[in-house]
Amino acid sequence: MNYKIALIKGDGIGPEVVGEAVKVMDAIGEKFGHQFEYVDILMGGCAIDAVGKSYPDGTAEKCRACDAVLLGAVGGPKWGHSTDPDKRPETALLSIRKDLGLYANLRPAALRPALAESCPLKNDKNIDLMIVRELTGGVYFGKRDRYQTEDRGEEASDLMAYSEKEIERIGRRGFELARLRSKKLASVDKANVLETSRLWRQIMHRLAEEYPDVAYEDVLVDNAAMQLVRDPGQFDVVVTENMFGDILSDEASMITGSIGLLPSASIGDTAPGLYEPIHGSAPDIAGQDKANPIATILSVAMMFRYSFDLPAEAKAIEEAVDAVLNEGWRTADIAKPGEEVIGTVKMGELIRAKL
Ligand code: IPM
Ligand code: MG
Repeated sequence: MNYKIALIKGDGIGPEVVGEAVKVMDAIGEKFGHQFEYVDILMGGCAIDAVGKSYPDGTAEKCRACDAVLLGAVGGPKWGHSTDPDKRPETALLSIRKDLGLYANLRPAALRPALAESCPLKNDKNIDLMIVRELTGGVYFGKRDRYQTEDRGEEASDLMAYSEKEIERIGRRGFELARLRSKKLASVDKANVLETSRLWRQIMHRLAEEYPDVAYEDVLVDNAAMQLVRDPGQFDVVVTENMFGDILSDEASMITGSIGLLPSASIGDTAPGLYEPIHGSAPDIAGQDKANPIATILSVAMMFRYSFDLPAEAKAIEEAVDAVLNEGWRTADIAKPGEEVIGTVKMGELIRAKL
């Protein structure tokens, strides 16, 4: 088969980690008989520098003409201060999610066996969960305002809104994924305070009746944050709204001890899916062959699984990664003091050699 992949290399370590992931894709192509064609797309801080805005006109159309999008990372302190949305890299991220309708963000957090010692928790080392984060609604996309009041000085507001439709489609994704894993779903909300959460819970309960084979529970977000560090092994699939998912997915990634290993997928109903590592652009180590390319390489595995329905190819990548880690190869982010450290390119090479 032929696949056309949009590459948004972005900023910081983005180009380096995407570079290694592309080489892995090509190796998979050779082994399994696929052709990958790549289309470079400028987005993020580098686009601000080149054309004056982080999300150049036509970006979504260019992505839509491809079968999937692979994104490295966007942003960095260089572009951190502007109040003009066009000059902020985050604007590009939110816009592409919205324009491609990527409402479901899958963020797996699993402790890889070879790295169990990196887990900062003392007890529960049985971590393999998937956060399903709603990605195109809620407070991220509600009306924002800033205005002067007569007696309270300046005031700002961000509106959090969710429709029944938005909740139902992400809820279904949660239940469907739970069916493919261990048939357990936790829905995280703040229904003791927020009206959006009360609607969320109402709809999730309605869906739960359609999925009697899935063990369902409601968890309040503050409790979920606490349970994640107390006993993460109790969770399998966790579905939640946009901002709670943003926060909890960072927490979940940290308890695996290795944010440099975690991939993610953002998918909708029709548009190409977008795949990216969870980590950011790490400008402090950019261009130094220090970044860990594994999260991006595992994002390619997710692309094969969720966009192209190529589970054997996905598994081949995941097994190659585990094999290299089992042999003890480490980039700086996952090395223990005194351990030998290898660079981005070498890590990519070793993984390809296993394919
Ligand atoms: C993420 C990031 C983004 C988000 C930022 C950079 C806008 O934190 O993908 O989790 O909040 O969604
Ligand atoms: Mg985040």
